[in-house]
Parts: sequence; C-alpha cells; structure tokens
Amino acid sequence: MSGDHHLPKALQGLRIPAIASPLFIISVPALVIAQCKAGVIGSFPALNAREGDGESPLLEAWLQEITDELDRHNQANPDAPAAPFAVNQIVHRSNARLDRDIEICAKWKVPVWITSLGARAEVNEAAHSCGGIALHDVINNRFAKKAIEKGADGLIAVAAGAGGHAGPQSPLALIREIREWFDGPLLLSGAIATGDSLLAALAMGADLGYIGSPFIATKEANAVQEYKQMIVDSGAEDIVTSSLFTGVSGNYLKSSISNAGMDPNALPQGDQKTMDFAAGSSKPKAWKEIWGAGQGIGAVEAITPAEDVVARIETEFHAAFERLKGRLA
Ligand SMILES: Cc1cc2nc3c(=O)[nH]c(=O)nc-3n(C[C@H](O)[C@H](O)[C@H](O)COP(=O)(O)O)c2cc1C
Repeated sequence: MSGDHHLPKALQGLRIPAIASPLFIISVPALVIAQCKAGVIGSFPALNAREGDGESPLLEAWLQEITDELDRHNQANPDAPAAPFAVNQIVHRSNARLDRDIEICAKWKVPVWITSLGARAEVNEAAHSCGGIALHDVINNRFAKKAIEKGADGLIAVAAGAGGHAGPQSPLALIREIREWFDGPLLLSGAIATGDSLLAALAMGADLGYIGSPFIATKEANAVQEYKQMIVDSGAEDIVTSSLFTGVSGNYLKSSISNAGMDPNALPQGDQKTMDFAAGSSKPKAWKEIWGAGQGIGAVEAITPAEDVVARIETEFHAAFERLKGRLA
C-alpha cells in the first residue's frame, strides 16, 4: 500500500494494512507462512511452540521454518515478496519461558514483536537490539501511555468485540483518546473481518487493522473442524464475554460453552490471580474446549485457505473506498 511511509519499514508495503493477530494454539508455522505469503504480517504466540520435557526449544525450529520458507518465497518472487512475520510474547509473571523466548527471538532477528498482558522495557530493548520493532496491546489510554513510556514503538488498541482477551471500550473512543497524544504506529483490534471495517479503522485514525477470528476458519489454522465450522455458522449474537476461563475478560463462542456443559448466560466471574501461562499448565483447556472468537465472524462464510481471507478483505477494502469516495464527492 502506498501512503504508509510514516510507518516503520516492517509495517510498510503490505497488500492490505493489517496484521493477522496471534491466536493461542491456532497460529502455527503453516498459518503464519500462508498469511505472510498472502501479503499481511502473520504472527504467532511464542508459547504455541511447546516442546516436550528435555527436548530442544520448538520455538527455534519454528523460527527456522518460517524464515527459510519466506526466504525461499522471496527469492522465487522478487516482485511480490512476503510480508514480515511477528512473534507475540505473553509478558505475564506466570510465563516462565519469557527470558528464554526473548533470547531466541533476538537471535533469529524477529522483525515485529508483539507484547500482551504486561509492558516491560527489557522486551522492547531486545526487539530493538536485533533491528525489530515492538508493538504493545492495550485496552485503555492509561495502559497505552505506560507502554510508550516503557519503550514500545507502537500500540494495538484492543477494543470491544475482539476475540480472546478484549477491552470494554468502543473503538471510536479508544482510538480517539490515544491519537490525541500519540502519532506513532497504531493498530485497531476487534471485530475487523471485512475490508469495509478495515477502511473504517483507518478512517478513525488507526494505521493498520489487527485481524484474528477470520483466520480461525482457514485450512492452515490449528483448530478442530467443529471450531472452524462454528465460526462460519455464528454471528455477533453467538459471542459471550466472560472472565471465568482465564481470569481476564474475553470473548468466546456461546455454543462451545454449552457443549462443555455450562450455561453461557449464567457464568460466574473469574479470578485474575488464577491466570497461568506456565508450560504444562491446565490452562490451554480454556482455549481447547472453550473457543475464543470476536464479534466480526458474521462475515466468515466458509473455511478457506488464509490467502482467500486476505484476497476477500482486499477486494472489499478497495470497493468500500471507491463507494465512499463517490458518496463524499
Ligand atoms: C482464539 C483466540 C486466541 C487468542 N490468543 C491470543 C494470544 O495468544 N496472544 C494475544 O496477544 N492475543 C490473542 N488473541 C487476541 C488476538 O490477537 C486479537 O486481539 C483478536 O483476535 C482481534 O479480534 P478479532 O478476533 O475480532 O479479529 C486471541 C484471540 C482469539 C480469538
């Protein structure tokens, strides 16, 4: 995309202005590679690469696979190179792997670092030490200011309706408050599933969209078929917000909760103290059985390759732009 020269190099020249967001369990090298080849920044949480006890770090093998495959693609397609990739670090005290994972990502010169659930200067410094940039996800303006003070290069505003851990605020309010003082890279997360909503994010003041749930219903996603199909079959009304499963408010598919024997309309509150990202913890169950999704999934009509999701959003984005130009002329 032209008109993106104000952004760091890693965020320029994308087919559509978007990062395919990191999805716990679901984002694996096959999906990340497909997203990058399709022209958007693909990403995965470092914690998705879980080796068995005593085995060498799977994260290292994943970074090698992604780097090699994208290099091969770029050599074969010098006119249409792949987008860079991003790794998400969960900066939470229960993530005992954080220091090791930071070291591995710096060694592999990860170009885009995404931090969630905590802002720490050392992670930003590690990103910068290898030529990368650090984007931090926030749910309000106060956290946004803290993240920039700690050295993040950009922000991901996670608004109401986002899949997984979501904020309670309207994107209109959140983006405006951040843009009052911050003119650096700003992404909007939450229910962006069409080119029209991506364009709306840019109109609000975001530089890029952050798109998660539509990529669950793709061939490359590491999710069971029933989960992918539930994304196709569901809409905004089928999403419930609850803090029960991880201790932090998040959005989930109602039917996955009833299938697990609970009443999605009468869930007790969760306890933030129980949040646990330790390797081998029982927590992944929350994501394995209780399926996260954002409110935008009404736009997802079939399980397709990730490339088709990007192509659809691109077509819609340009059509929405032309339509708006006509209306505002
Ligand atoms: C199933 C699922 C798992 C997620 N896992 C993570 C994660 O591990 N790390 C993270 O930073 N965000 C995670 N997210 C949040 C996304 O990165 C992003 O904010 C969100 O998907 C955007 O909203 P959307 O799904 O409506 O597009 C997850 C979201 C979903 C739906």
